[in-house]
Amino acid sequence: MSDAYLTLDKLTLAYGDTVAVKDLDLTIEKGELVALLGPSGCGKTTTMRSIAGLLNPASGRITLDGADITRVSANKRNVGLVFQSYALFPHLTVYENVAFGLRLKGVSGKQLDDKVTASIKSVGLASFAARKPGELSGGQQQRVALARSMVMEPKVLLLDEPLSNLDARLRLEMRAELQRVQKGTGVTMIFVTHDQIEALALADRIVVMLNGGIEQIGTPEDIYNKPVSAFVADFVGFENVFALENGKLATPNGLVELSASASQVPVPAATKGLAWRPRMVILGSGPFQGTVRGTSFAGNTREYLLDTPLGPIKAEVDAALPSHAIGATLSFDLPLAAAAPLSRCR
Ligand SMILES: Nc1ncnc2c1ncn2[C@@H]1O[C@H](COP(=O)(O)OP(=O)(O)OP(=O)(O)O)[C@@H](O)[C@H]1O
Ligand SMILES: [Mg+2]
Repeated sequence: MSDAYLTLDKLTLAYGDTVAVKDLDLTIEKGELVALLGPSGCGKTTTMRSIAGLLNPASGRITLDGADITRVSANKRNVGLVFQSYALFPHLTVYENVAFGLRLKGVSGKQLDDKVTASIKSVGLASFAARKPGELSGGQQQRVALARSMVMEPKVLLLDEPLSNLDARLRLEMRAELQRVQKGTGVTMIFVTHDQIEALALADRIVVMLNGGIEQIGTPEDIYNKPVSAFVADFVGFENVFALENGKLATPNGLVELSASASQVPVPAATKGLAWRPRMVILGSGPFQGTVRGTSFAGNTREYLLDTPLGPIKAEVDAALPSHAIGATLSFDLPLAAAAPLSRCR
């Protein structure tokens, strides 16, 4: 990619003999907001630590703004890092917390004051500058942590689960805040989350990680609508995922032919699996039969769990439709046209 600003090139990261990240390739453009998304232990924090310079790669290369920084020490990289526990200095005011790093760098006088004031203002805390962290809400403290990193004008700002300490409502607010600050300042930002909703809502691009590698990189729309692997499909809510063998669905009861109407749409040869969201399942007609095992009301929709020869199937239909009782037998279809084709399946 021509606009590469930060590149990770065949990066392998290990703790002693434990390889946590293997041969990771990633290119990030200047000003992008990228989310690292994945289950616990997949290597998100490890990757961030290596970008920050807190962990030396076992092999591979990191470049930033045209320079190889693989062996550059953490304090010379100009990379900001905000952790989940953002550890503000409790005895210092908001102003002094934000000024701290600049003072260490020898910035003083009007230049210091201008930068600190602008940074505090950018996170909406201008009237809180004289308070101490203990006199702020969790979200306000988080904004101080953000201002403290931003004021250093990092080339890249890394945020490791910065919102995970906050309650649901504050999280939503802070999400919007993060996005606003990032777009306002144009800082290149990578944030870690294991919450797919958060990644979809915030990021320009999402990197889905699994077992120390990258499963998929794409825009939120790509990841949500066009998952490439069974893992990503499942992760973003395609709850009916099947491997394909010889153009047939692999089920617990052997290979099953897709419906006749569906077979008119050719499945690309490279397709290794198919996935349907519950709302893509057609309930009430189709070549398959299932028995309702469970049903739950979800406001606008009603969800059904069906026992079927294909294994358990989850379907979601308009709640205004007549409901079906547990034990009822229903026809259903998995329309091929709606399915997400997977190029990797398990
Ligand atoms: N200091 C360490 N020493 C040895 N192994 C470690 C160390 N830190 C992490 N690991 C291992 O490296 C792998 C990746 O860990 P990492 O912290 O990067 O995961 P993560 O994706 O950030 O997970 P989480 O969502 O739980 O924070 C895990 O298997 C973990 O056990
Ligand atoms: Mg982590």
